[in-house]
Amino acid sequence: MTRIIPRVTVVGSVNLDFVATGARLPSPGETVTGAVLARYPGGKGANQALAAARLGAAVTLIARVGNDVMAGEALTLLAGAGVNLQHCESDADHPTGVALIAVNADGENQIVVTPGANAAFTPDRLRDPVEGALVCQLELPVETVARAIAMAKGLVVVNLAPAMAVPDIVFSRADLIIVNQTEAAWYGERLHDAAGLVAITYGAKGAKLFRGGQMLCEAAAPLVQAMDTTGAGDCFVAALTVALVERMMLHDALRFACAAGALAATKAGAQPSLPSRAEVDALLIQSN
Ligand code: RIB
Repeated sequence: MTRIIPRVTVVGSVNLDFVATGARLPSPGETVTGAVLARYPGGKGANQALAAARLGAAVTLIARVGNDVMAGEALTLLAGAGVNLQHCESDADHPTGVALIAVNADGENQIVVTPGANAAFTPDRLRDPVEGALVCQLELPVETVARAIAMAKGLVVVNLAPAMAVPDIVFSRADLIIVNQTEAAWYGERLHDAAGLVAITYGAKGAKLFRGGQMLCEAAAPLVQAMDTTGAGDCFVAALTVALVERMMLHDALRFACAAGALAATKAGAQPSLPSRAEVDALLIQSN
């Protein structure tokens, strides 16, 4: 059977991640030493774009980076995976976004983002067409996210991360909202009013899908050895989008997204860890 190639446009952030991996995360005011430093391409938008491409979608990323050396490094894996970067513009006045990430021995993280060019992506700069399914997150100004949603003609997926106040169009127009359990607690009852589906992720425990506050289905995450959970949520977002565009049944789509997210936690770095379609399919067969 020939598989439909999903078309996905991500309007989102690009960061370069500076990752310090050590035994444990610092408490406020504490210094923890002995960590090892690495740098990886990241940013929720870029991660979701790359994840969707590795899962078989034709992906366009609409984003802004600085006119600096970090931009090339941040975009390198996207270019290698064939993501369309024609609408990824260079900003002469702001640096490429940077994320400072601490990872502990269990793969848990703490992230501080300096958004740079992402924050300067104002709605007036969004002129390119949104083709196919739209995926966006909240590392751009919310006004830009709202404009992208208003421009979209296909499936609209919004990852409400990091949690912040958003305009009503997000809840009225999104076909799918995705949050983790912390973000779900932040949005509270408002998620029940969403017109479309709401997916809530629970880390290693899996995910649940809701509509109008009623649970439709749930899926467990396959058991994996977590090394670095950075990007696992982004991989889940991309995988659930691809699965829905491919018209998988809801429970199969949720299982597929949980498996993809689990695999993304097994390697270091947000983008190097994003799995291929074949890797996700193999894990699903193995965990059946
Ligand atoms: O979701 C993970 C991402 O959040 C990291 O890659 C980092 O850049 C931050 O944006």
